[in-house]
Amino acid sequence: MRKSHIQDIKLAQMGRLRMEWAAREMPVLRHIQKRFAAEKPLKGVRIAACLHVTSETANLMVALKEGGAQVTLCASNPLSTQDDIAATLVRHQGLAVYAIKGEDKKTYYRHIASALDCRPQITMDDGADLVSTLHERRGPLLEVLGGTEETTTGVIRLRAMEKANTLKYPIVAVNDAKTKHFFDNRYGTGQSTIDGILRSTNILLAGKTVVIAGYGWCGRGVATRARGMGARVLVTEVEPLRALEAKMDGFEVAPMQQAARQGDLFITLTGDVAVLDVGHFKAMKDGAIISNSGHFNVEINLVGLKKLSRKVRTVRTFVEEYTLRGGKKLFVLGEGRLINLAAAEGHPASVMDMSFANQALAAEYILKNGRQFSRKVYPVPEEIDAEIARLKLKSMGIAIDALTLQQKKYLNSWEEGT
Ligand code: NAI
Repeated sequence: MRKSHIQDIKLAQMGRLRMEWAAREMPVLRHIQKRFAAEKPLKGVRIAACLHVTSETANLMVALKEGGAQVTLCASNPLSTQDDIAATLVRHQGLAVYAIKGEDKKTYYRHIASALDCRPQITMDDGADLVSTLHERRGPLLEVLGGTEETTTGVIRLRAMEKANTLKYPIVAVNDAKTKHFFDNRYGTGQSTIDGILRSTNILLAGKTVVIAGYGWCGRGVATRARGMGARVLVTEVEPLRALEAKMDGFEVAPMQQAARQGDLFITLTGDVAVLDVGHFKAMKDGAIISNSGHFNVEINLVGLKKLSRKVRTVRTFVEEYTLRGGKKLFVLGEGRLINLAAAEGHPASVMDMSFANQALAAEYILKNGRQFSRKVYPVPEEIDAEIARLKLKSMGIAIDALTLQQKKYLNSWEEGT
């Protein structure tokens, strides 16, 4: 076994079963894995992956390993690790894994540093903590060919690095592939965020007023599902276009200061900081529940909330009760971290199938083309996106029409009008 730091190796068998269960819903990744096993396109390549350690991620790790890579994995969030999955990856797949659910901040960064000790040639990141640590603490990074980035917040950080001329190697923005964010961010976050909230609270959504901060890909997914379960949904935004979309999709739109007075449940999905702040906590109703499903735990100003409070206690797993000085109680879920990964199991495998197909093919793409790239953030090539969509449809048994010659000609010409 390679050196690792995980919770309990005895959980490996349970992890193996859960990993197999996820694999059933990941036909596109399976297809890629088969080809990788035959062609070994990643032979001998050292990959450091900083991802949520879930059953779906485990299947990606196996696909990379089958492709010939030597993979080291660490967690991309202190609360998102599934300890049984970490155990099976160490015991049954021979990976080096550094991840423990509930690890403190120091351990979280120590785990990232341990993953980087493998001297990666490719990095695979979710939120850009691995890449930023690598940039801050290591030398000129000559060995690194390139990296991939899984989420919106990570891509934003990496673009900022590119702009500041500090990015030291090319990154492929997996998040921006259509087969990623159209589905993972919208349907994956939509379902799993509600799942995490229900598992931690067991509240009835029907009849509740749910305030969704941010009507991006994730926010619209959660808003639609909350409405489907009978909630009244209020959206807050800062972008006029997105606010307009929310309104025309049939949701109420208001500034947070107004929404704060009305919400029974708050969910932030903005990738922004202090979206729920002291003024909002003061306006909230007694008993309001506060949660976040954006990447970092900065969307809710928990330091400010603590200052307003005279007492904080844990009342259920992943539920903390803050008693404010006037006696009002507010409940914070999962320490303000991604609630779908803290209190539930993250996105369903069927949607991660496409996200991780992008990751696997992006790694192969970097290996083939990385040397010609500059130190920039690159999109996933359109052909990869189209191929993943085609494979996913095929796996679902869905056929679609093809353009006829006449249609192709018509769509490529300008002469024909009325
Ligand atoms: P997006 O960029 O499509 O949407 C974010 C929206 O938030 C934008 O419309 C923006 O205008 C809005 N916003 C920004 N500041 C705001 C504020 N102060 N108040 C109200 N709205 C505000 O991004 P996307 O893809 O929806 O991702 C959102 C966050 O969720 C990111 O941090 C991303 O990394 C994370 N994410 C989380 C997942 C999970 O598993 N929970 C999965 C995928 C992404």
